[in-house]
Amino acid sequence: MHVRPLRAAAAPLLGLALVLTGGTASVAETPAPAPYALDAPVVFAHRGASAYAPENTLAAVDRAAALGVEWVENDVQRTKDGELVVMHDETLERTTNVKEVFPDRSPWRVKDFTAAEIAGLDAGSWYSAAYAGTRVPTLRQFLDRLRGNGQRLLLEIKLPELYPGIEVDVLRTLGRAGWLRPGYVDRRLVVQSFSADSVRTVHALRPDLTTALLGTPAVADLGRYAAFTDRINPWYGGITAEWVAAVHDLQGPHGRPLEVDAWTVDTAAAARKVRDMGVDGLISNRPDLVRDAVAGY
Ligand code: G3P
Ligand code: CA
Repeated sequence: MHVRPLRAAAAPLLGLALVLTGGTASVAETPAPAPYALDAPVVFAHRGASAYAPENTLAAVDRAAALGVEWVENDVQRTKDGELVVMHDETLERTTNVKEVFPDRSPWRVKDFTAAEIAGLDAGSWYSAAYAGTRVPTLRQFLDRLRGNGQRLLLEIKLPELYPGIEVDVLRTLGRAGWLRPGYVDRRLVVQSFSADSVRTVHALRPDLTTALLGTPAVADLGRYAAFTDRINPWYGGITAEWVAAVHDLQGPHGRPLEVDAWTVDTAAAARKVRDMGVDGLISNRPDLVRDAVAGY
């Protein structure tokens, strides 16, 4: 098993409440976690704990926190008027009531709606009536909730080819929300994308930030990605122990071995299988289930 050099316990960070300060800051500070090494996989709540609450919502963030899951993955896109919002699909159709509210706006692309229009949509009823009225969060709202909960973020820049310059926008929002300070940029944040160009851009803009490239590149191609990414995050069904070892054999831009976080691992059997291949992390809709299966954290 590959051992990550910088990891920290989850439980002490969780459960911190939002506080009212009367100023611009609206969330409590949480102490920077102390690094130490563990050899069990880290577990990430995919789109929040999305098996139990509507994906990419604050409810899914809170559900992950309630399960004691520290790391949360999300998907970030940009509205017509430049706001960053948390949404997986290119369109709003599957996870909101946009067709009812705006029947004449097909195909309901995120980039064709304003932030105010999206903020008025119901992003919970599609999942269950219990979540009726749940909203699509902005990235800023998502970051503030994570901070308040003492959680960490695996941020995916989704479909960056649709949003020229989104990397600058993401970093600006992260900075304004306090996520590029020491203790956050180095311990609580990873930025990933399927786009190598986007990952390379993020690394160039903020070399201190941890990055991940989504996908399963051929071993022969891994070396050129190691110049700008710290992790290669593959679909769990397409990897072998040999491929994982080949990734670990390379050093990333911070002088550490490249790491591997596999997705989307939702059964105990799959979790054990890729754990035994040596992966460093499991990205899961059912993070409690896979954590228990592999004694992860
Ligand atoms: O974090 C990895 C995973 O989220 C990538 O796939 O389609 O769920 O964004 P997708
Ligand atoms: Ca994602």
